[in-house]
Amino acid sequence: MKIIFDTDPGIDDAMALLYLSALPDIELIGITTIHGNASIEDCTRNALYLCEHYSIKAPVFQGEATSFSSIAPEKYPDFVHGADGLGNTNRSPSSKVLDEMSAVDFLIKSLKDYPGEITILAVGRLTNLAKALEKEPELQELANEIIFMGGTIEAKGNVSAWAEANIFGDPEAAAIVFSSRLKLTMVGLDVTNSARMTLPFVESLVPGNDEISTFLVAINQYYADFYRETEGTDDFPIHDSSAVAYLHDPSIFETKSGNLRCILEGKERGRTVFQEDRNGIHKVCMKINPEQLLRNYAAQTKSKYNPHEAGTPRR
Ligand code: BDR
Ligand code: CA
Repeated sequence: MKIIFDTDPGIDDAMALLYLSALPDIELIGITTIHGNASIEDCTRNALYLCEHYSIKAPVFQGEATSFSSIAPEKYPDFVHGADGLGNTNRSPSSKVLDEMSAVDFLIKSLKDYPGEITILAVGRLTNLAKALEKEPELQELANEIIFMGGTIEAKGNVSAWAEANIFGDPEAAAIVFSSRLKLTMVGLDVTNSARMTLPFVESLVPGNDEISTFLVAINQYYADFYRETEGTDDFPIHDSSAVAYLHDPSIFETKSGNLRCILEGKERGRTVFQEDRNGIHKVCMKINPEQLLRNYAAQTKSKYNPHEAGTPRR
C-alpha cells in the first residue's frame, strides 16, 4: 500500500511516524509537511531529522506556510510542543535534505502517477490537500483513501468548546476537502483522547536503541508536563498515532458512515458536523480499543527496533 504522510511534527506526529515507519506492507512514498504545531520551517526540519533518526528513506516535501486563505498563524502552540515543535530538544538533520518539489505538487504528481493506489495519512491541517484539489480538481477521483486526524463529533474541542486544533487551524481547507468526492476517514478527538501513553510506556518501547529512546523520552517529557499541568493526569493522548493505528488495524475502531461538513462562521468556526447516512462517503471513528492500540504500537516498534525483545509493554 502506497502512503503519503502529511504532518506538522510535532511531538505526537513524531510518535506517529515512529509507528508508521515500523508497519509491514506499506510503502511510504513521501512525507509532506504543513505548518501547525510550529512554523513550516521548524516542522520541515523536524521531519527531516525524524527521517534520518528513524532510518526512513522517504523523501520530504515542504508544504504550506499559511492557511488556505493565506493567513499566517499569529503564534504556534509552544506550550504543548515546545518552541521548536519537538519539546525544545532543537534537533536538526545532519545530512538528509529537502526535496525541491513542493508538497502540493508532490501530492498532485503522486495521485496522477498511481491512480487509486495512494492512501494519504494527514495528521495536521488539511491545507496541502485543499490546495492540491484547488489546482487539480480531478484529484478527488484519484486517491484510495484519506485518513485524517482531526475534528470531533461528540467530544469537547481542544481549542474551543467545539473545534479540534487541526481543523480549527484551517477550516476553509477542511471544508474544501469535506465537500470533495474524496473517500475520508476521520480519526478525531472522539477516539484520540482515549489513546494515551505514559512515560514508562515510552521508555519501554525501544530499549535496544538508546539514541532513539533518549529522544522519545525527552520529547514526551515535555508533552507529559503539559498534560499533567492542564489535566492533572500522568498519561497523555498521542492523537496522531491513532490515525496510524486505523491504517494498521481498523478492527480496533468502531465507525459510522455519513457526511461531514465544517462550520466556517461564528463561535463554532472549525466545528466538524456529521450527518449519519449509511450511503455517505465519509467514515468517522467513534470508539477505539485503546489497550489494543498500545499493544499494536509496542509490537510494531519492537519488531523494527528491538527484534529480539518480547513481552507485554508497561502502560
Ligand atoms: C492535533 O493537533 C496537533 O497539535 C497534534 O499534532 C494533532 O495532530 C490534535 O488536536
Ligand atoms: Ca499533528
